[in-house]
Amino acid sequence: MADSAAQNTEHLALWGGRFTSGPSPELARLSKSTQFDWRLADDDIAGSRAHARALGRAGLLTAEELNRMEAALDELQRRVDSGAFAPIEDDEDEATALERGLIAIAGDELGGKLRAGRSRNDQIACLIRMWLRRHSRIIARLLLDLAAALIEQSVKAGTAVMPGRTHMQHAQPVLLAHQLMAHVWPLLRDVQRLVDWDKRIDASPYGSGALAGNTLGLEPVAVARELGFTKVTENSIDGTASRDLVAEFAFVAAMTGVDISRLSEEIIIWNTQEFAFVRLDDAYSTGSSIMPQKKNPDIAELARGKSGRLIGDLTGLLATLKGLPTAYARDLQEDKEAVFDQVDTLEVLLPAFTGMVATMTFDTDRLEAEAPTGFALATDIAEWLVKNGVPFRHAHELSGACVKLAEGRGQELWDLTDDDFVTVFKDFLPADLAPQVREVLSTQGSVTARSGKGGTSPARVREQIACARTTVESLRAFANSNSDGTAYKTPQSLLK
Ligand code: ARG
Repeated sequence: MADSAAQNTEHLALWGGRFTSGPSPELARLSKSTQFDWRLADDDIAGSRAHARALGRAGLLTAEELNRMEAALDELQRRVDSGAFAPIEDDEDEATALERGLIAIAGDELGGKLRAGRSRNDQIACLIRMWLRRHSRIIARLLLDLAAALIEQSVKAGTAVMPGRTHMQHAQPVLLAHQLMAHVWPLLRDVQRLVDWDKRIDASPYGSGALAGNTLGLEPVAVARELGFTKVTENSIDGTASRDLVAEFAFVAAMTGVDISRLSEEIIIWNTQEFAFVRLDDAYSTGSSIMPQKKNPDIAELARGKSGRLIGDLTGLLATLKGLPTAYARDLQEDKEAVFDQVDTLEVLLPAFTGMVATMTFDTDRLEAEAPTGFALATDIAEWLVKNGVPFRHAHELSGACVKLAEGRGQELWDLTDDDFVTVFKDFLPADLAPQVREVLSTQGSVTARSGKGGTSPARVREQIACARTTVESLRAFANSNSDGTAYKTPQSLLK
């Protein structure tokens, strides 16, 4: 625990000149945000380092003062890391706490100089950007891991077929790989959204001051570079007051939740006794405290459930932003808990979800047996008729007549006799041709025929998988850009 000198529990007020009393305890309690914003402490110290150097370049700190300031900030970072320094009850926010900590180390005179030319308004706007940019890469990596696990499952599935459904009803047979890959593309788009968002959030508001800019001749571009940004916000009011980029991140996080929830719903249904398409690994399923036979898909259910709160975080934030006058207002403090909750949720959910996906096993015999049932080959009959010159409108009718006939007898389409086909097609096809429709009444024939771009034929699905793999690899450059330095580079001080 902190020794009292390091902790310096003496209250620090960031204002007071014009006040006759300190804040009431009720206000202090309401106003306090350290319980959630302390996680910005590292970014804050990185910002302070860059700001101190800007003050030095502007001649507002001597070389000797700058040296001492940097040493004090290093010491502050060490105390934060070790837990020797932490917020106390009286600290309003992380910035207040850190200024108190700095003054405890550097003394009133020097410690008090760092605040010149900056405001908590431009600071906090900058810190949330830094924090989100760092975590966007972590989330991107976790999403790519999930996409890669789905791709591996698709490869493993080979040419196994399953019933494809629309309206939850048997529709047309598809490759299991095709169905699984349908969940990969939304996840890759979520990562692409983050890559795209990062270009917009790549601007530092540091130097915007409270709202109007600063008078001290500081160089915001240099500060921005040190903090991993390539540019500075163009408008100081926008820089301090806009949170559309935080909301945009929140949308991507919510969308990610929805995408994972859709897959969850599928897994939950496939995992029921009635479907029995998929088995979950014991390590990624749970039991019941009362029913010994139970094995539950809790990870998928938690993912489905948590998507609700990810959406709630986004809508809460949007509602907060909606009515605000255009410059900093304290309401903006509410941006943080929303995205912190989303990031915490996704960073704990995604690894578990990926583990479940990577280890699930499919009953491909059962999938194969179910694939053509429920008259799932009716479209194939219609399209075979079209290839033999029957207009689609009639082909649709004729295929429907086959379904009606089979259904009436409690049979499937392939149980119909040659005579049945001759009779049903008699106005359109010669009798010797009609029974040849059987050539499309196989599941493999059906999927192989769907060979147009994006279709479920094995050849197209192989290409699709190759394309997804390339996309995953190219997106890894973003996910790993914390360390490779080609894009956003996490400030050295934050790489612990
Ligand atoms: N803690 C605030 C936030 O998170 C920043 C402080 C700004 N306070 C102020 N009185 N201008 O948004």
